[in-house]
Amino acid sequence: MDWKPDRKIRKPIYKQIAEYIENGIADGTFPLDKPLPSERSLANLYRVNRSTVVAAYSELEANGLVERKKGSGTTISRDIWGLTKKRIPSWNRYIEAGSFLPNIPVMQRLRKEMEEEHLINLASGELSEDLFPNEFIRRTISSKDFNGYLGYDHPQGNIELRETIVNHVRDYRNINTNSHSVLITSGAQQALQLVVQCLLKPGDAVAIENPSYSFSLPIFKTAGLKIFYLSVGKNGINPDDLIELYKKHRLKMLFLNPIFQNPTGTLLPYLQRRNILDISSKFGIPVIEDDPYSLSSFVEDDASTLKSMDRNGNVLYISSLSKIAAPGLRIGWIIGPSAVIERLADAKQQFDFGHSTVSQWIGNEFLSSTYFEEHLPLLTEKLKKRRDLMIKYLHYYLDDHVECHTPMGGIHLWCRFKKEINELQLLEESIKAGVIFAPGTTLGTEKGHIRLTFARGNEEQIHEGIKRLAKAYEML
Ligand SMILES: Cc1ncc(COP(=O)(O)O)c(C=O)c1O
Repeated sequence: MDWKPDRKIRKPIYKQIAEYIENGIADGTFPLDKPLPSERSLANLYRVNRSTVVAAYSELEANGLVERKKGSGTTISRDIWGLTKKRIPSWNRYIEAGSFLPNIPVMQRLRKEMEEEHLINLASGELSEDLFPNEFIRRTISSKDFNGYLGYDHPQGNIELRETIVNHVRDYRNINTNSHSVLITSGAQQALQLVVQCLLKPGDAVAIENPSYSFSLPIFKTAGLKIFYLSVGKNGINPDDLIELYKKHRLKMLFLNPIFQNPTGTLLPYLQRRNILDISSKFGIPVIEDDPYSLSSFVEDDASTLKSMDRNGNVLYISSLSKIAAPGLRIGWIIGPSAVIERLADAKQQFDFGHSTVSQWIGNEFLSSTYFEEHLPLLTEKLKKRRDLMIKYLHYYLDDHVECHTPMGGIHLWCRFKKEINELQLLEESIKAGVIFAPGTTLGTEKGHIRLTFARGNEEQIHEGIKRLAKAYEML
């Protein structure tokens, strides 16, 4: 029992203790017919909090290895020591051995904290419930006969919805396409996943923006890709950086969110968009244009998509209903050459046999309705108001300490603290104060930033949330 947890490695202490006990049960260090050491004695032995030992025992209990009864301590589960001759697999080892990488711990932590109702959530990149088209969807479900198809639909997605998307992207995003070139996906997220899985192989070099939503996704690492970063400044990425990266690493693909980028809110200027397309054509680099935000624009500026400017077929275009309607519908789409779309659809069929037909029916009713035309300007007006309010309260409560670029669309504010701060520590203090945000390090390599989503809270919550953030900042 002279084993001690190793504080220098990244694995949490409670996990190390759980693993040690699990191995000890297997090799006889902990005899099957004796109670396991008490929480207090292990806490003293390993110089850890009792709650750490409790967490280790809870994990072993969840995996069926130990049993805990109030008053009689912790014992090795009867199932594993022969009474029933059942063997329980070591789920922990399976969990850690899988090739698909989990989210980083801070993202998992945020996910859990979001369940706490007392916390004001400025972290989730989504609209608040009152901005969803609830009324329209309720009305559609109750008053219209469901005339969708309930069998397995075409793997590319329901043909009516695909045709509606063809009209939608023509009218709203100036993109000319046809239904053979559209694949319906489970949000933009699945489209990104399909591209990574089907069009790239381990060792391929790809470029993503830093910071970016892509940065937050472990899917690139899971696929064994070499990831290179393009810094996002006030005006987006610098096309010269792209040329340099291509020459050094023979990039296989470029992932870009050029319009109201998550998290910086930047709009890549028109000339830069042109320039990127020229570079893409010159070197033959496919561009994945991830565009969930272009319709949430607060200005008249030209925010034409790369796809609408693409004359040579270099761009695969991704978008969804998540940021303009409701993410729970999980309606996204990818548009590209039909051969590529067929390849991705074939994979989608293997993953999930195509998207839910009920959700596609609702998505189709929504996108093809006149309600949609009225919904968009109302939504952007409300979003703009929330953006302005958040900036106002940031000035009021944290004026000398924070600066942020004012985005002309989208749903996020990217804030930089003027003083060096540890944003993970700020997150801990903020959780105590009752507010959460996305720490910058989950979205990029630069320290001292946080992302605040102004769409997620109502006006009152934005005010209270920033007030709580300022209180947390004072505690650093
Ligand atoms: C840039 C970007 N791409 C893709 C997604 C995924 O969205 P969804 O799968 O809900 O369409 C998000 C969500 O925040 C995003 O910000």
